[in-house]
Amino acid sequence: MKIENKNFWEREDIIATQEVLTSISDFEHFMFENSLKRYDKKGKINRIKVFGCGTGRELKGIATVYAPNKIVASDISDNMIEKCNENLKVWSIDGITTTIVGDAKDFDKLVNEFELVTILNSMLTYVPLRKDRLKIFKNSHQILVEEGVLIGTVHNQIGVLAKTVYFKMRGLFSVFLGEKVGNRDTGFKGFKVPGYYYTKRGLVRDLKESGFRDIEVYSIEELYAMNGHRYNRKRGYNNLIFIASK
Ligand SMILES: C[S@@+](CC[C@H](N)C(=O)[O-])C[C@H]1O[C@@H](n2cnc3c(N)ncnc32)[C@H](O)[C@@H]1O
Repeated sequence: MKIENKNFWEREDIIATQEVLTSISDFEHFMFENSLKRYDKKGKINRIKVFGCGTGRELKGIATVYAPNKIVASDISDNMIEKCNENLKVWSIDGITTTIVGDAKDFDKLVNEFELVTILNSMLTYVPLRKDRLKIFKNSHQILVEEGVLIGTVHNQIGVLAKTVYFKMRGLFSVFLGEKVGNRDTGFKGFKVPGYYYTKRGLVRDLKESGFRDIEVYSIEELYAMNGHRYNRKRGYNNLIFIASK
């Protein structure tokens, strides 16, 4: 069944799939460490903006790793934020965290407010229009202080065979489709939501166009290989991770 993005994430059965998750993955730890190293010359990361926080899965880990003074976490879904507020109390990080309901593309009122911005677990997959994804990257750039760091993940066009073939086929029509080659319905629990899958090149281009520098993009497969491990992309998502500085 087709469903619109916000309505999808408001559903109780969809929220239930997210609230069981509380840990931080190895590739997220890599991005956290990388951001700390990048900002270390300038100082401490004290103020953090988290886009698409859902029920707050990453917030506990973020609070532990960075020990920040302030986290501002937002999500498009009212019900996700309600659940997130409950979790913040359980984790005792409600004192340092403010939550906001809103679309990331409208978060453009602040300037130079945060040392770190996160867009984790592929929130951008659910933003099918390029102009909206660019707006979210530009908002992230605007709210970061000079030398502030952006980290995040997106879905990758290259992964399990069916997905890779699907996008390779669409790529044959790139003259007509342009960047829309990456559009594909996503979702779970029987729902189809309009989605977007990036290529490494497309992601670097969008980050550059939004003003970022020192852009690093790796697939999970590449990251594992860098550390001497093998990643079976036939079974995993093989997301792209990105780290970039203002
Ligand atoms: C897969 S969940 C990830 C949740 C959490 N960040 C995590 O890592 O587990 C994606 C989240 O992005 C939110 N989202 C989708 N589109 C959004 C948008 N345009 N602005 C803000 N949040 C959005 C959804 O409501 C959902 O909570």
